[in-house]
Amino acid sequence: MAHQRVLVTGAAGFIGNAFLRRLLETDADVQAMTLDALTYAGHRENLEDLPGAARHVFRQGDVASAEDVAAAFAAFQPDAVVHLAAETHVDRSILDPAPFMRTNVHGTQVLLDACRAAGIRMVLVSTDEVYGDREDGTAATPDSPLRPSNPYAATKAAGDLLALAAHRTHGQDVLVTRCTNNFGPRQTPEKLIPLMTLRAQAGKRLPIYGDGLQRRDWLHGDDHADGLLAALARGAPGRVYQFAGGRGRTNLAIVQAILALAGGAPTQIEHVGDRPGHDRYYALDDAATRAELAWAPTRDFEPALEATVAWYLANPAWCRAVAGEGLRTFLEANYEARGPA
Ligand code: NAD
Ligand code: TYD
Repeated sequence: MAHQRVLVTGAAGFIGNAFLRRLLETDADVQAMTLDALTYAGHRENLEDLPGAARHVFRQGDVASAEDVAAAFAAFQPDAVVHLAAETHVDRSILDPAPFMRTNVHGTQVLLDACRAAGIRMVLVSTDEVYGDREDGTAATPDSPLRPSNPYAATKAAGDLLALAAHRTHGQDVLVTRCTNNFGPRQTPEKLIPLMTLRAQAGKRLPIYGDGLQRRDWLHGDDHADGLLAALARGAPGRVYQFAGGRGRTNLAIVQAILALAGGAPTQIEHVGDRPGHDRYYALDDAATRAELAWAPTRDFEPALEATVAWYLANPAWCRAVAGEGLRTFLEANYEARGPA
């Protein structure tokens, strides 16, 4: 079913923005509202040059505020919500979990309540991190136990469980999606790929947590966005859909690739103290989702990484605009916490 009025939370951030752009460019009839608090990770710059900009409206607001959400619903009258607003950085959640509790847990319940009252569909966007470390090397299915390792993942798991409980208790039309690590343009440059790109280019040290042999499965944000479009249109209530790239790579290999692309020197790589509770391996089994939603990623990793690195290097004005005081303070506190390896 095509939804005509879609409220997207968190679309001033990275994946929400990729989703908003795909939504507006693939459906010429859709109207979209962004609801975003513009935290350190939300950037007005991301809402410039939108395709179909005349069909989009931005509203600043907090998903954990019932008043802000009610006002957004009253103003826009959505017929579906795709919920991507979240606190998302594991390292920040270790330093201070409070905003993660508020946004990822309470905010998700506020939106669930609003969607139930309005009788509309909600897609909750979640992560492979809810399954925790897949030390045995197997890919998690939606039936695998949730074993989150850090406050970020624990608050995401709580949100997922609240959504699935709303379906069971109230028969609510809500579905959950889980995805592996995303990369692409417009990601706040404190996450691995943009951070290492900009530091490599600037000749700064590249801090690798621990031995750097942790593996992540990277999916391009636009492939994730296409999966979310499919889940919104064709997903069944109460289901969990999974999106994966299909191949894990070590952090060290990723950073070496970035170094080569951004023109840095191998001596910039510096092993620092490990992230506490650092998961070694994530993997998702997305076979059921691929079959049911007729979705598959379309981008090969290497050329997509090259294009991503090139995007950050070609957009210094964007990089400067998003790197505010909040980002600098966090990076200092984070590396102080890491210390030497
Ligand atoms: P991000 O940190 O880049 O952006 C988050 C956005 O949410 C920002 O625009 C921010 O301003 C907004 N926001 C935060 N708190 C808010 C609040 N209380 N009210 C309204 N807006 C608020 O995040 P991202 O990487 O784009 O992730 C989006 C979603 O996808 C999250 O739910 C995340 O858990 C999930 N996810 C991310 C990844 C990944 O690799 N980045 C992978 C799988 C799933
Ligand atoms: P990140 O981008 O924070 O995503 P996530 O923790 O959600 O997977 O980090 C990706 C991986 O890179 C993770 O294993 C931690 C590691 N990492 C570093 O080694 N150094 C860094 O400076 C950062 C930000 C991450």
